[in-house]
Amino acid sequence: MTAISHKQPPPPTAIVIFGANGDLTRRLIVPALYNLARTGMLPPRFALIGVDHNDKTTEDWQSNLKQFLAETLAKNNESLDEKLWQPIARGMNFLKGDFEDDGAYSKLADLLAELDIKDDLGGNALFYMAVADRFFAPIAGKLGKAGLARQDGRNFRRLIVEKPFGHDLASAKALNKCLLEYFAEEQIYRIDHFLGKETVQNIMALRFANGLFEPIWNRDRIDHVQITVAESIGIEGRGNFYEKTGALRDMLPNHLFQLVAMTAMEPPVSFEAEDIRAKKAEMFKAVHSLSLGDVVRGQYDAGSVAGQAVPAYRAEENVAADSNIETFVAARVLIDNWRWAGVPFYLRTGKRLATRSTEIAIRFKRAPFALFRETPMDELDADWLILRVQPDESIRLRFNAKRPGPAMALESVAMEFKYKDWFKQAPAVGYETLIYDCLIGDTTLFQRADQVEAAWGVVEPVLLGWESVAPRHFPNYSAGSEGPIAANDLLARDGRSWRAIK
Ligand SMILES: NC(=O)c1ccc[n+]([C@@H]2O[C@H](COP(=O)([O-])OP(=O)(O)OC[C@H]3O[C@@H](n4cnc5c(N)ncnc54)[C@H](OP(=O)(O)O)[C@@H]3O)[C@@H](O)[C@H]2O)c1
Repeated sequence: MTAISHKQPPPPTAIVIFGANGDLTRRLIVPALYNLARTGMLPPRFALIGVDHNDKTTEDWQSNLKQFLAETLAKNNESLDEKLWQPIARGMNFLKGDFEDDGAYSKLADLLAELDIKDDLGGNALFYMAVADRFFAPIAGKLGKAGLARQDGRNFRRLIVEKPFGHDLASAKALNKCLLEYFAEEQIYRIDHFLGKETVQNIMALRFANGLFEPIWNRDRIDHVQITVAESIGIEGRGNFYEKTGALRDMLPNHLFQLVAMTAMEPPVSFEAEDIRAKKAEMFKAVHSLSLGDVVRGQYDAGSVAGQAVPAYRAEENVAADSNIETFVAARVLIDNWRWAGVPFYLRTGKRLATRSTEIAIRFKRAPFALFRETPMDELDADWLILRVQPDESIRLRFNAKRPGPAMALESVAMEFKYKDWFKQAPAVGYETLIYDCLIGDTTLFQRADQVEAAWGVVEPVLLGWESVAPRHFPNYSAGSEGPIAANDLLARDGRSWRAIK
């Protein structure tokens, strides 16, 4: 997971995408392959097999994906570079088949064998399940039964599993059991695309490559941590999916907990994948299970976002008119270990909030007041370190400085490092890094079975509690606001308040 530019191209591989005509393939996987081609990091010899039940030929598949990619690039004033696209297009093979039909897997086995000989792929294959989660277990099982998961010590067979990984602890355990029937743990790559973001990986660089931060990264110096993943968009026509999921399942045990893990884990002894994953697993073990009193749920009402009137969640397509699904969740998480005892991590995420913003804000303890007795409390602000994940990726340190003039008046000022100013390039969207890491067999940025189960274990009491107690006062926040009032109360009872979402 170090910078791609320092790495070698991956070994020859057949990449098999289940869900070849889907949204993820079009919007993220193929652009990521194109970006890998741009940095010379595609395998030198590779095949791209697309499996889907929609009627398509290889030519249709190529031209649809090319057109979509060209349109996406055009939005950034870029035109598609044939030199980069051609190697991808040449490798493409469309295989029409149903994920639940054994026949599709014997055809796939034949095609893999044929391409392996033709393109000298060394028997390596990466199976990407870009499909709805109900297909994860059947596809893995059928690949296994067809003998396609088997490695012989010279080749590799790997499986990428998209999200969501389970809906609760029991289903996550059941899914792990199915996957592990034919694939070994080190063959399974459970994706959390937040971990592909440069800014998230940079948390480790900030903490462990600098002597400055780690000595103050503990309960002696840190008052609390706030992690916000705010979205201004609604459910974007995905009512069927969201009605079964909700904000907690969609965001907490995966994305938000990964941000907690990056912020709170102990330093690993090396940057080897297993050392990092072991430290994360250790941290998850120390997280208290959430109780109902630690969590606030919300659902958006009609309102206005960026000057546009938007409907209530209950008025969205494929959403029940009396739906009790939450579109916002805030939680107070405690980590029971030597470093973090007594330091709350406040998490919040929601749809239709004031603006799109993902950040980790670390609030340091206030300075003693002895020297500034005359300064009103609200003028002597505490110091903040704000790791901005998206948009406007940056790291900002807020601290107090003396305002010019004869009096000793203080003002909170900021020092800021912005990725785009310093590196003159936008941070990668993430899937490039994840696909590349999978091709070279680096599991650092992927979740291990025990991590996933531990995360579901933390939220399980809330899921059970919410099943039996209907939310009161839904909808309870206006679209375009900062979420429900109750979320403010969660911090107010600890004498704290949220940072503004901006
Ligand atoms: N889209 C995103 O932005 C995004 C982001 C992060 C994660 N993900 C995850 O990525 C996965 C895929 O999402 P997606 O949005 O790409 O889904 P999608 O658009 O529904 O793509 C799935 C593809 O599989 C096809 N398919 C469905 N049932 C099939 C069957 N039995 N046999 C063969 N083909 C079948 C679908 O065809 P039909 O259209 O005919 O059903 C569709 O072409 C999900 O796990 C999702 O949670 C998606």
